Amino acid sequence: MDLDIRGRKAIVCASSQGLGKACALALAEAGVAVVINARNRARLESTADEIRKATGVEVSPVAADVSTPAGQDALIAACPAPDILVNNNGGPPYRDFRELDREALLAGLTMNMVTPIELVQRVIDGMAARRFGRIVNITSQSVKMPLAGLDLSSGARAGLTAFLAGVARSVADKNVTINNLLPGSFDTARLRSGFARAAQHSGLAESVIEERARHDIPAKRFGHADELGRACAFLCSAHAGYITGQNLVMDGGEYPGTF
Ligand SMILES: NC(=O)c1ccc[n+]([C@@H]2O[C@H](COP(=O)([O-])OP(=O)(O)OC[C@H]3O[C@@H](n4cnc5c(N)ncnc54)[C@H](OP(=O)(O)O)[C@@H]3O)[C@@H](O)[C@H]2O)c1
Repeated sequence: MDLDIRGRKAIVCASSQGLGKACALALAEAGVAVVINARNRARLESTADEIRKATGVEVSPVAADVSTPAGQDALIAACPAPDILVNNNGGPPYRDFRELDREALLAGLTMNMVTPIELVQRVIDGMAARRFGRIVNITSQSVKMPLAGLDLSSGARAGLTAFLAGVARSVADKNVTINNLLPGSFDTARLRSGFARAAQHSGLAESVIEERARHDIPAKRFGHADELGRACAFLCSAHAGYITGQNLVMDGGEYPGTF
């Protein structure tokens, strides 16, 4: 299917590897010029080369911390009138909620709630004026289902979801949509670091932790980042203009709810 977004422009935050990179690549494959972003410049440049070579589209790397106003300024300077915004960021580390002091709580909220809202504020009126906008937030399965040690991540992302639910309705008549992708366990560096941490805490081998996690997923496998990237590209397509304010869980059936 032609997504009908060739020639459009996207900002994809936190995208030198993992889920963000997969979204950038899928959009580039659809002919979208992408601004990609991460803090580590060397890895970012190498990802930019990879996407350019694979797709032939314009790829602009912006090495910056997306959680800072300066980082956001740099992203908007690289793409002042984006048609597409993919909000992504690092997640707070796994931690018992008792260990989170005020500074840690505010840092988590800034990463996973305040930053995406600030970026939406910066781009949404231009999208509405141009009568096309697609905003996708990478949140987490943990918005719907608690995950031990990720309470801050769950709370911040649930806050983001609730905040943007109303915003989405306010721009729906301008062909601007806002949707959320809720990944379960995708095979990325972050997932692997979670296994390493769990192995350390439990004294079990990492392979045992991994096998248990896989076993709990009805699909009996972890997600591939490109599966999430392609779902993102569809939500950013011309055809998805009637889908807004939605939460797409991608977790191999792990979330046990009927609805
Ligand atoms: N993988 C999963 O199974 C899963 C499940 C649920 C939710 N999530 C969430 O989805 C998001 C992406 O996860 P992932 O698995 O793709 O992680 P990942 O493989 O660790 O990749 C994270 C990417 O974000 C960049 N990044 C991190 N902090 C940044 C910052 N402050 N500014 C700019 N770029 C930043 C990293 O580059 P630099 O380090 O160079 O900045 C890297 O490119 C996270 O929020 C994660 O919590 C993931």
